[in-house]
Amino acid sequence: MCGIVGYIGSRDCVPILIEGLARLEYRGYDSAGIAVIGRGKLRTRKVKGRVSQLGKDLPARLTGPIGIGHTRWATHGVPSEENAHPHLDSTGRVAVVHNGVIENAEELRAKLVANGVEFVSETDTEVLAHLIAAVDCADIEEAVRRVLPEIVGTYGIAVVDARQPDRIIAARNGSPVILGIGDKELYVASDVMALVRHTSQVVHLEDGEVAVLTADGFSTGTLDSRVTTRQPTTVDVEDPDYHAEGYGHFMRKEIHDQPAAVERTLRGRLDERFGTAHLGGLNLTPRESREFKRVKILGCGSAHYAGQIGAQMIEELARVPADSEPASEFRYRNPLIDPETLYVAVSQSGETYDTLATVQEIQRKGGRVLGVVNAVGSSIARQCDGGIYLHAGPEISVTSTKAFTVTAVDFALLALHLARVRDLSPADGQRLVRGLLALPERISDILQLEDRIADLAKHYSNFQNVMFIGRVRGCPVAREGALKLKEVSYLHAEAYPASELKHGPLALISPETPTVAIVPNDELFDKNLTTLGEIKARGGKVLAIAHQELPSHLVDDTIIVPQGEPELDPILLGIPLQMLAYHTAVLLGHDVDHPRNLAKSVTVE
Ligand code: F6R
Repeated sequence: MCGIVGYIGSRDCVPILIEGLARLEYRGYDSAGIAVIGRGKLRTRKVKGRVSQLGKDLPARLTGPIGIGHTRWATHGVPSEENAHPHLDSTGRVAVVHNGVIENAEELRAKLVANGVEFVSETDTEVLAHLIAAVDCADIEEAVRRVLPEIVGTYGIAVVDARQPDRIIAARNGSPVILGIGDKELYVASDVMALVRHTSQVVHLEDGEVAVLTADGFSTGTLDSRVTTRQPTTVDVEDPDYHAEGYGHFMRKEIHDQPAAVERTLRGRLDERFGTAHLGGLNLTPRESREFKRVKILGCGSAHYAGQIGAQMIEELARVPADSEPASEFRYRNPLIDPETLYVAVSQSGETYDTLATVQEIQRKGGRVLGVVNAVGSSIARQCDGGIYLHAGPEISVTSTKAFTVTAVDFALLALHLARVRDLSPADGQRLVRGLLALPERISDILQLEDRIADLAKHYSNFQNVMFIGRVRGCPVAREGALKLKEVSYLHAEAYPASELKHGPLALISPETPTVAIVPNDELFDKNLTTLGEIKARGGKVLAIAHQELPSHLVDDTIIVPQGEPELDPILLGIPLQMLAYHTAVLLGHDVDHPRNLAKSVTVE
């Protein structure tokens, strides 16, 4: 949520900030801004809208060797130039960029207003600029240290002061802040993605830490001024290709990247001979893998739905009770933490605040948490006690596609690993290994259906409401399909277990509300056909995702996907739904990679 970038060195910071913000834009894109100190003067430029706007027609005097920038996802106040960061104090001396939410902003604002301060924005962040500037101290680091204890909530901040143009102050509490160490230049960002082009040497600030960056180096300490000695670590993240190439949009590029992404995640992890998976990062002995009594998976949005697929695989294959719950709910219900449960946190970005807070809460109560995470070195990856990296590569489109698929694949690996130390036979293990190895080719075959799916989208994009249904293995697939459609097309999509339709939602079915039905060739096939009959009897249209042609009186259209191992089929059945959502959104003229109101990485509560 929101992106921060800062630079101090000898070059002009403006192009560096703009390019860094463009790389972070997937974290928020309703407004953007930079503050630059050049020749002792602090200047800002802010726009409502995208970073590309910010970079246009920059005034010539907006240059300097030190600056901070921000791309915003609105929490307090509408997207507007006034509400865009950086925020300044009334004299224009101190500039602040901030990720997170200041919960006591109203109270702090009221006190400042009572003291005569005039606010220009509706944001929570502006209080920080006024409070820091009001500290009677010439040293900006000390001023920041004195103000932060007053803040209730979360923050990742970068601050500059025109009176001390040789330093940036950064601090973290709940929102990531990473220092990038270059040669006589330093960077600060909320995400390594903004840094990897410049340096691989990074320092992840911990909660409660403050850093001072100068062109020559950095120092870190706690809010109460105890020095913390931090050695840079090397990040092994490829500099992502920020072009959608011939695909038109990142979402489409990432859908098409899935065969390669799945191949990457499987590489070196499958053992064909013993029919098992080797997952070195789990940090679980075979004995520990055998002994826990439950698996609880926690993530948000698509990560939660991928977790639901994973829970079914684990329960079915490893015969251990497993379920997936939204981390955003779990953390607020004072959950019982059971030492005999294996907790698994799922996150593409590794920065989703609800998921991170869930991990911390479980660990506080003595639980053990594994991570299934894409972003290497992210907060969740570092917080967990072990885990599996996705190796899906960077996912730029706000809507998750390849990370969802690869997460489901990684759960298949985890399920196989757990199953083989419990009671799955070697023959079944080998069958699943073959099924996993066949996934990239099967996904490629599904991608060949794109033209047909694009044609179907022409028809289905005319409806305002779409129902998605699936039974057991198909249910999380339906949920994810509905989420994809609503996110990028803004059509109302509702997902239900097919078995639940007759308990209420059937009332919605009519010729105006079509149903997308997941109908694999599994043991529930006949039950699914019965449900389709109930829909057709109410005049509903049906688009089926199936392994074979279905009786023509039960469906209007069918997308046939290749059949693999039944336990792994949910991974494949979801892919046509990604393409359906994509083409529907394109037809409706939406900004597919940047759906309204959303951001890629939700680092606020
Ligand atoms: C949907 C989507 C979101 C994310 C959710 C969790 O397309 O992308 O629902 O899945 O915000 O994000 P991560 O996986 O980064 O924790």
